[in-house]
Amino acid sequence: MRIVVDVPAGTSGDYEVAHYTNETTDNMWQVYLGMKNENYDNYTVLLKDGCPMPIMQDSEAEYNEHEWLWNYAEGHVVIGGLGIGMCHQALIDNPDVTSVTIVEISQDVIDLVWDDCVKDDTFSIVLGDFEEWTPPEGTEIDTVWADTWLVDNTLDINQYTNKIVENYSWYTNNIGFWGQDLE
Ligand SMILES: C[S@@+](CC[C@H](N)C(=O)[O-])C[C@H]1O[C@@H](n2cnc3c(N)ncnc32)[C@H](O)[C@@H]1O
Repeated sequence: MRIVVDVPAGTSGDYEVAHYTNETTDNMWQVYLGMKNENYDNYTVLLKDGCPMPIMQDSEAEYNEHEWLWNYAEGHVVIGGLGIGMCHQALIDNPDVTSVTIVEISQDVIDLVWDDCVKDDTFSIVLGDFEEWTPPEGTEIDTVWADTWLVDNTLDINQYTNKIVENYSWYTNNIGFWGQDLE
């Protein structure tokens, strides 16, 4: 299973959306495909300067790595990180999800992706640091999905997890992380 996105290639600041094939050799793409046992012809990827591999791709592995979100998203869902908007269609199709707020730290990523990614009028985007974001007063949150940890994060993965739980447990205990529930 895979969700294919339709976001045009482009560059803004430190970020690039690119269209790769299964033969692309840039940015350790063959290592990624081999590591994840991927075998599709075409992919859309998001690159960030300083990160050796794409930071997001519409691969089958990514679909599987979002398993927790598919299983537990409900109500108002806060998503950490826009990426290429891969998870959006599944949230739109989920009758338990009522609205989606995406917190993205980079205006460049928003400029590259937001206009073209799948969304409906329950989706909104916020420019901000998901690790520290304070929702507007009165906001109710039912689900938090954390997919912002990148290899250049100064926190290790345990510190990151603790920080996210600390920031959002005021609102909900339904907090999931990329890669969680992966079989
Ligand atoms: C792996 S991608 C998210 C993929 C997304 N779930 C999707 O479906 O396409 C990670 C995203 O998190 C963003 N990001 C990284 N650190 C962040 C932070 N502290 N706050 C908000 N966004 C952040 C990156 O710019 C990138 O867009």
